[in-house]
Amino acid sequence: MTDEMKNGLIDQMNAEFYSSYLYLAIGNWFRDQDLDGFGSWMEAQAAEEYEHAMKLYHHLHERGVTPRLAAIPEPPSSWDSVLAAVEAVLEHERYITGRIHELADLALSNHDHASRLLLDWYVNEQVEEEATASDIVRKVRMLADTSHGLFMLDRELAGRGAPAAE
Ligand SMILES: [Fe+2]
Ligand SMILES: [Fe+2]
Repeated sequence: MTDEMKNGLIDQMNAEFYSSYLYLAIGNWFRDQDLDGFGSWMEAQAAEEYEHAMKLYHHLHERGVTPRLAAIPEPPSSWDSVLAAVEAVLEHERYITGRIHELADLALSNHDHASRLLLDWYVNEQVEEEATASDIVRKVRMLADTSHGLFMLDRELAGRGAPAAE
């Protein structure tokens, strides 16, 4: 594997660990707002992001690379509103999609077909992740200005608490 590819995959592994930590921070804030359904949804997302990091970790080891585990930056701890918090999720997913696309380009230019195939999985995953986050942002926009609407949405999200299968 080229150094460029190696460093790109390691940075992405660390970015996925940060995503996990960020979503745990958002879940932590939702729990503090008595929105346990939103909280459990974010905790499930945090567990998924951890899996995304581990998939890269295992790929690197299989390719004979021991990744450096960088420091994970401290995430924010509060958001101005429920809408701001779910928008932060969508914005972060879009940022990650951009990074994944750059990495996929790198795999192509490095003729690293094993990494390209692995990254295909992430390209698809990002389509789903953005769709889910957009859907929730849309629902919060429609419903969150009434406490009843927010309560209903919190109940709905409680059902997504279990980490989804790939
Ligand atoms: Fe991810
Ligand atoms: Fe994600």
